[in-house]
Parts: sequence; C-alpha cells; structure tokens
Amino acid sequence: MSSDILETMIIASLAGGSILRKYFEEENFSISQKSVSYDLVTSADRESQEKIISILSGRFPQIPIVGEEGSEQIPHYREAFYVDPLDGTLNFVHKFPFFAVSLGYWKDNEPIAGVVYNPISKDLFYARKGNGAFLNGEKIGVSTTTSVEGSLLVIGFPYEEGELSRTVKDIKSTMRLTDLRVLGSTALELSYVARGIIDGYWEYALSPWDLAGGVLIAREAGAVVSAPDGGKFDLFKGDVLAATPGIYQELVKAING
Ligand code: IPD
Ligand code: CA
Ligand code: CA
Repeated sequence: MSSDILETMIIASLAGGSILRKYFEEENFSISQKSVSYDLVTSADRESQEKIISILSGRFPQIPIVGEEGSEQIPHYREAFYVDPLDGTLNFVHKFPFFAVSLGYWKDNEPIAGVVYNPISKDLFYARKGNGAFLNGEKIGVSTTTSVEGSLLVIGFPYEEGELSRTVKDIKSTMRLTDLRVLGSTALELSYVARGIIDGYWEYALSPWDLAGGVLIAREAGAVVSAPDGGKFDLFKGDVLAATPGIYQELVKAING
C-alpha cells in the first residue's frame, strides 16, 4: 500500500513540477501577495496544486489532502497528504532555481512517504518509512561531519515578525562557529541534509506542507530530526532541526547555549 502511495506521489510531483518548469521558462505567471511583501503566491503555485490534487485524489479518493493554497485553517486528520505545490516561491519569482514540489503522506502522527522534486535540476528525492532515502534512484545518506565548527549550517527566516527573536538569538549563538546560509526552500534544505551537502538546518514556525515530505527524507537518510531545542518534532508546531548525527548534540547545545 505505501509503495503504491509513494508511486502516485512521485507521479503527482513530476506533473506539478512540469507546470512549474513551464512557467519558470516562459515567465508568464501572475503574482499576488499573501501576508508580507515576500510571502507570495503565483498562478504557477495554484495550477501545480490543482494538478497534484487531481492525481492524488483520483487514485486515493478516501485520503484527505491538505494543500497550502486555499488552506486557512489546518485540519488534523488521522491520515493525510500534505501538498506544497511550490516550496520557495520567492526564489521562483526571482529566477533562483532553488524551489520544489513537496509532498508528504502522514498517518497516526508518523511520516510514511515523502517526495521533494526540483523541476529545474530534475532532482527527485523520495523516501518511504523504513526503506531509506533516494535521489533519482540512488540511495543517499547524511554527511560524516563531526564538528559544528566550519560545517555547512542553514537557517530559515520566519515570515511572522513575532517569531523573529528566536532566530536572531540563534544566529548570534552560532555565527561564531561557521558562516550561516539561508536558501529559501525548507523542502530542499531538508533534502540537502539527507544528501549529505548541508550538515544542519533549522527554522521556526513552518507549516505542515513545508515539512511533511522533507522530514521523512532527512530521517531515512540518517539525519536526526527534532525541534531546535532538542524536543520531539511536531508537524503542527513547525519548529524543526535536522542534522547529521555527528554534529546534532553539539548543534543543539550551540543553538540553545
Ligand atoms: C517558504 C519556504 C522558506 C521558508 C518559509 C516558507 P513557500 O515556503 O520554505 O524557505 O523560510 O517559511 O513559507 O511560501 O515558498 O512555499
Ligand atoms: Ca513552503
Ligand atoms: Ca508554497
């Protein structure tokens, strides 16, 4: 059953991704603002979501779907697909080719299948619980880094101003150790931890669709995924830290020290 689900999610992400690629190349999408000036939605997000939902619901009509576009309140279903039809819209709008379709299937508070697809680089990341993580058919794993000093750390900036203070505090406590980056797509940042490129990534106040796919991919590749304070990861709280085990403890200490 879960391999069937994963297969359908891959088909849906490729279909959503080809819509994004077309708009990215032709530059003929319309843009509107959501909360702040850099929180955007485009016609590409909407069309990609429609296509993904039609594929998922066509094959699994009984499984609820929580898609980013049009979701004001987030329902807590026992099982659901979480759809981010374009994770990294600001990058997309500025022609920075670091964005992805992100799909996750969760049941009983556990991630069961995840897919993250960058339609420009054609990197297709996917994972099924207990089965490892893959990039374009090849098994992937986290980095072997053992020290935070000089490691590749990525942090994300929250859209809500009230959430900024924690991030600023974290930057202050970690920036002496290495040169931090912000790349603008949670799904790809988690997948790059899985791939062993990024050693550690954390961010606060994300939404379930940002995280549902990438969290499983990172875990299945061997990353430790928790809240940034070292507590249990909660999809609905949206605070995440994913790191290679060699630096995880040291990074939690550095962030919270
Ligand atoms: C955003 C990206 C970004 C993160 C934001 C998210 P969107 O998703 O994942 O990296 O910092 O908080 O909302 O809006 O481009 O789908
Ligand atoms: Ca997102
Ligand atoms: Ca999005």
